[in-house]
Amino acid sequence: MRTIPIRASRSYDVLIGPGLLGEAGERLAELFGPCRAMVVSDDRVDALYGEALRASLRAGGIRAERFTFPHGEESKTLATYGALLEAMCKANLTRRDLLLALGGGVAGDLGGFAAATYRRGIPYVQLPTTLLAAVDSSVGGKTAVDLAGGKNQAGAFYQPSLVLCDTGTLDTLPQKERRAGCAEVVKYGLLGSEALFEALERNPAGAWSEDTIAACVEMKRRYVEDDEFDTGARQFLNLGHTFGHAAELLSGYSLLHGEAVAMGMAAITRSAAEAGLCSGETLRRLTALLGAFGLPTDLPYPAEALARAAGTDKKALGKSITLVVPEAVGRCRLETVPAADLLLWLRRGGAK
Ligand SMILES: NC(=O)c1ccc[n+]([C@@H]2O[C@H](COP(=O)([O-])OP(=O)(O)OC[C@H]3O[C@@H](n4cnc5c(N)ncnc54)[C@H](O)[C@@H]3O)[C@@H](O)[C@H]2O)c1
Repeated sequence: MRTIPIRASRSYDVLIGPGLLGEAGERLAELFGPCRAMVVSDDRVDALYGEALRASLRAGGIRAERFTFPHGEESKTLATYGALLEAMCKANLTRRDLLLALGGGVAGDLGGFAAATYRRGIPYVQLPTTLLAAVDSSVGGKTAVDLAGGKNQAGAFYQPSLVLCDTGTLDTLPQKERRAGCAEVVKYGLLGSEALFEALERNPAGAWSEDTIAACVEMKRRYVEDDEFDTGARQFLNLGHTFGHAAELLSGYSLLHGEAVAMGMAAITRSAAEAGLCSGETLRRLTALLGAFGLPTDLPYPAEALARAAGTDKKALGKSITLVVPEAVGRCRLETVPAADLLLWLRRGGAK
């Protein structure tokens, strides 16, 4: 098992290893003392792991309440968030109680936002069960729901009190979800670790190892500790996300987040290569690696529509937008460009 301490406005540990779900009750009882817990998960994850977690909580003397929502991004809404708050209120949870977000990034973002705002904030624990949630969304305290106008448009920075990543749960992920999670792992390599990128080129299956997950969380730790509130260095983590979020929105969320990030990463790298900001070799290696994971690398949407959708992205600030631009494998830079230039960046990136 690996333990990575995160030092932010609230400090906490990220534990990574097999069997952690079964130990959750004991660990939480030790950390929080007598309390109750609202377990938030989608229907699929609840069916797979809900009872195991509840049994573990019972063994630790923690009474569990349960809130389950239909799986998928379509549930990351104000309506589900409101229903969850009402369920917490009905269960009369107090500020001494906990919220447990069991699942992928959707359960984590939604549960985290409810924890941030219920009675002005109660503690919560992330229990990620997707690769994406393990390496990215469960760490760093970004919580949100989507609005009709865009992804993650209502949310809060609110750190968890603990992250328990039971790597055994990743075994049951459907193939499509497995592939999508790998996009975020590739992102860390392209962003700041040529060694990680090369290791994935040699052995793509290594994306699932405890070592790789820990390496990604360790990288995320540095960005979060440097810039918890995302006004500087943390923006690097948005690599591939500006165009990716736009594609996700235009697809009506039929694209998985990781698939959209893969498209966005390939497009910004293609655009950078076209502009002479990175080599053609960097682009070739990226598209080959994404291809090895079966991830898409083309951006099949009109540039104008993507530019409009990207304008609602959180990275857009007034009339300018900050892009994360690859310079080489393992090195990127932030580039603030006039919003009017987005079309050019998108067309160079291969948008129609
Ligand atoms: N907060 C952040 O910093 C951050 C970072 C990146 C992404 N995100 C958000 O994360 C979300 C995407 O997360 P995701 O890809 O985990 O999606 P998700 O939560 O929808 O999970 C994907 C699917 O996998 C299923 N699933 C989850 N765990 C499983 C398991 N162990 N076995 C079988 N099936 C399982 C779920 O039921 C769901 O259908 C997006 O909303 C994105 O905006 C947040």
